[in-house]
Formats: sequence, structure tokens, C-alpha cells
Amino acid sequence: MKKTKAAVFASGTGSNFQAIMEADDLPIEVALLVCDKPGATVIKKAMQFNVPVLDFEPSAYASKAIYEQKLIEELEKAGVEWIFLAGYMRIVGPDLLGAFEGRIVNIHPSLLPAFPGKDAIGQAYQAGVDTTGVTVHFIDEGIDTGPIIAQESVELFPEDTEEMLKKRIQQVEHNLYPKVIRQLLDQNT
Ligand code: GRF
Repeated sequence: MKKTKAAVFASGTGSNFQAIMEADDLPIEVALLVCDKPGATVIKKAMQFNVPVLDFEPSAYASKAIYEQKLIEELEKAGVEWIFLAGYMRIVGPDLLGAFEGRIVNIHPSLLPAFPGKDAIGQAYQAGVDTTGVTVHFIDEGIDTGPIIAQESVELFPEDTEEMLKKRIQQVEHNLYPKVIRQLLDQNT
């Protein structure tokens, strides 16, 4: 199977990165991990999987446009065609969006449009909803507002702690993201 080169952008622990790396028969090769938090746990994971890492400190650049230009150059050099955000805590700017139009996807731990932005799991837990979930969506210039590709619900039980809810949401994420990646790439090859 010919694999399409992709980059994963992540800033945190990288459990979704790991799920992507460990998924069977994915039609992508993760050619680059992009991380805006030097020292993040996901970098160690990338090294374990022999995935090249591009880590950078945004504050070292004069503007987002400048560091995104560098990112675009590196992504193109690595032959990357798709970008999968997995806990990348930055808004993607217009240059990067334009360079990979329709090929940047994000995973978010709520049923969007409910609970966009930071700490979506905590927001849902505090709100006391019966059901929350996971959304995979294309990104646009907004915060968690792009077209939805897939969603899966996760029920909240009265005895749940936030930690229990988070665990169940993560299990769903780790299955859903590889599944959606497979579907997207099948449609586009
Ligand atoms: C996930 O919950 C994802 O939905 C959100 O950020 C979190 C990243 O977690 N965008 P991890 O680093 O993959 O464990």
C-alpha cells in the first residue's frame, strides 16, 4: 500500500499520536511530529517511534506568520500532504491553512459545537450534561469551528469523576481518529 506522508501536530502527552502510530494498516506515514512545546512528552514518544521531530518555541519568532512560513517549508521538504492536529494548542494561521487547504484535521474532546476551546472535558463535566463526546473536524480560522467529519458520543454517569470521564473520552479518541484518517485517505486517493 502506498502511504501518504502526514504530519502530526501535538503539544502534550501524545496519547493520540501514539494511537495513530499503533493503528493497523493506516494509509499514512507520519513523516514529522511538529511540537510547539520543547520538552513535551509527545517528543519522547516520537523518538520511540523514530518519527522526526520539529520542535519550536513560538516566542522565539517575531510573528506567527514568520514561524508558520518556516513550518510550511519544513512540511514541504518532508513531503507532507496532510496535517493531523492532536492536542496542538494553537490557532493555525492563514498561511498554513492556505498551504494545506482541506487537509488539516483536528480532534476535540466534546460534541462540537458544544464546549469548544480549552478544557472541553472539564467544561462538560462542570455543566453536568448527560452526554458529551469526541469530534473530528477540518479546521478553519476559528477555534474548533471547522466542518465536522465524525462524532462519537460518550455518556456521563452520576458516579463519574472528571478523571473517569477523561479516560472514556480518550478511549473513544484513540479509536475514532485512526478510523477517520483511514476514511479520509481512502476518499482522497
Ligand atoms: C485530546 O483530548 C484532544 O482531543 C485534544 O487534546 C488532547 C490531546 O491529548 N485536542 P493527547 O496529548 O493526545 O494525550
